[in-house]
Amino acid sequence: MSFWNKLKKPFFVMAPMADVTDVAFRALVAKRGAPDVFWTEFVSADGLYHTREIAKMKDAENPLMRDLQFDKSEHPIVAQIFSSKPEMISYATKLVAELGFDGVDINMGCPDRAIERQGCGSAMIKNPELAREIIRAAKGASDLPVSVKTRVGYNKESLDEWLTALLEESPAAITLHLRTRKEMSLVPADWEHMKKAVEIRNRVNPGVLLIGNGDVRDIEDGRAKVAESRCDGAMLGRAMFGNPWVFAGRKSEGTPLVDKLAALTELAYGFEKITPPKNFAILKKHIKAFVTGFDGAADLRAKLMQAESAVELERAILDAPVPRV
Ligand SMILES: Cc1cc2nc3c(=O)[nH]c(=O)nc-3n(C[C@H](O)[C@H](O)[C@H](O)COP(=O)(O)O)c2cc1C
Repeated sequence: MSFWNKLKKPFFVMAPMADVTDVAFRALVAKRGAPDVFWTEFVSADGLYHTREIAKMKDAENPLMRDLQFDKSEHPIVAQIFSSKPEMISYATKLVAELGFDGVDINMGCPDRAIERQGCGSAMIKNPELAREIIRAAKGASDLPVSVKTRVGYNKESLDEWLTALLEESPAAITLHLRTRKEMSLVPADWEHMKKAVEIRNRVNPGVLLIGNGDVRDIEDGRAKVAESRCDGAMLGRAMFGNPWVFAGRKSEGTPLVDKLAALTELAYGFEKITPPKNFAILKKHIKAFVTGFDGAADLRAKLMQAESAVELERAILDAPVPRV
């Protein structure tokens, strides 16, 4: 029995987000209220193979292995990988199992052109036979439970064919980002699709967990969306921006500024410890999210955007004429 079957429903999980849910950000969230499941950023299975087996790059210097670092306090944790080649999925799944992850997730929803050109991400929706092979390869490679994150269709909702194909391979869980590929993130997520997805799941393979994703603002909102659509849990992504307390039930506006600035400083120091190092500019989206909604926010934001290290960022925060309580 995998950790998936032990979760109390409804459960609330962390969305995988490239350059967001790294080891530093996850530590910040873990301390303030852990999700029921942690997720890594997505990692290229082909990239892992080529850097480790062909280029013989040392793991300590490999940015892809960096994206698979996690702390002991972060369990259960799922590693998200992508590839259009079953043998690469098999390779990466074995590696993820050796690293001590609790599950492996396959990205079948990313709309990025560079990912799609490799036949990965959303492109998989157009190739259900290959998607099925990929799931089988992951399941055969280790004992880890395999999950899939995808969208409701490519140009239009196609749950009848697409979700059925996935369900027939019996992954432990499927996360549905409730938009099509074509919609990108330009229209609101449509949770009505989840009602249909649950009907299909109940008919085709009732053992598979269904997780809804898209525009969940906080836990209260997630609880309502799950109850209405009758899925098993919700995944929160952008709701974590500026609100690492979200899984503890806090709404984005419910935190004193002083706590937000302290969280941002802690994140910056954690970020600097990541090896091999990541570009400090990646923190800008967090600066935007934490430093907003108060008198002087725009000025402080502009100053913090100039910071090139955690010390500089902390100094700018300490010097800022903003309310401290
Ligand atoms: C900056 C950013 C990075 C993302 N990276 C990933 C990723 O690596 N893997 C993935 O499956 N989805 C990724 N997503 C999509 C999110 O996981 C999620 O599906 C999407 O943001 C909708 O959920 P939300 O409305 O709760 O944010 C990313 C989204 C954003 C905004």
